[in-house]
Amino acid sequence: MMREQPVSVPAAADRESFIAALVSALEDDDPQRVVERVLADCLQAWDGRPEWLPPATCARLEMLHESPGLTVMHVVWPPFMSTEPHDHGMWATLGLYQGRENNILWARDAERRLVAVGAHSIGRLEVFSLPADAIHSVNNPVNGYTGAIHVYGGDFLNSPKREWDPLDFTERARDLERTRAAFEAADSGAGEEE
Ligand SMILES: [Fe+2]
Repeated sequence: MMREQPVSVPAAADRESFIAALVSALEDDDPQRVVERVLADCLQAWDGRPEWLPPATCARLEMLHESPGLTVMHVVWPPFMSTEPHDHGMWATLGLYQGRENNILWARDAERRLVAVGAHSIGRLEVFSLPADAIHSVNNPVNGYTGAIHVYGGDFLNSPKREWDPLDFTERARDLERTRAAFEAADSGAGEEE
């Protein structure tokens, strides 16, 4: 169904109201469904990037909220960047205010080897939820920055996570500093081909 006008919701009023609405989702029996709805409604109301976020003009991995039950991050993907397959160890809900995220979904077979089992593409104002046991890799397929708000159902920075080498699928502990370095490396290459 088409939305004629951007909607107005209290949670979209400012950064504090948005974060408070996400945090209060933890009181619900199904917090991820509530987070999904808050994120989708706010993206519609903002009709893109909320004014309290800086423009997506460089790679960003910045914390908007951090607590034992919930982590909210502003993620800006450089043009054409791809990640290795990784898990989060908790549910995750991803919402985009600009650009596109192509997700490959992975699972482990009987020998615990990684196999691709699906794909899901999300675009501007769309939201995508992953269960706690999900493994995914992400690609920004466009020659521009993709801007997203990622919500995780736990203490994302301080919980154990796994990642898999993109070439031979060797499993290892996820190192967020390596992830941050990959964002910066992809960003420094952005635009070089133009
Ligand atoms: Fe992820």
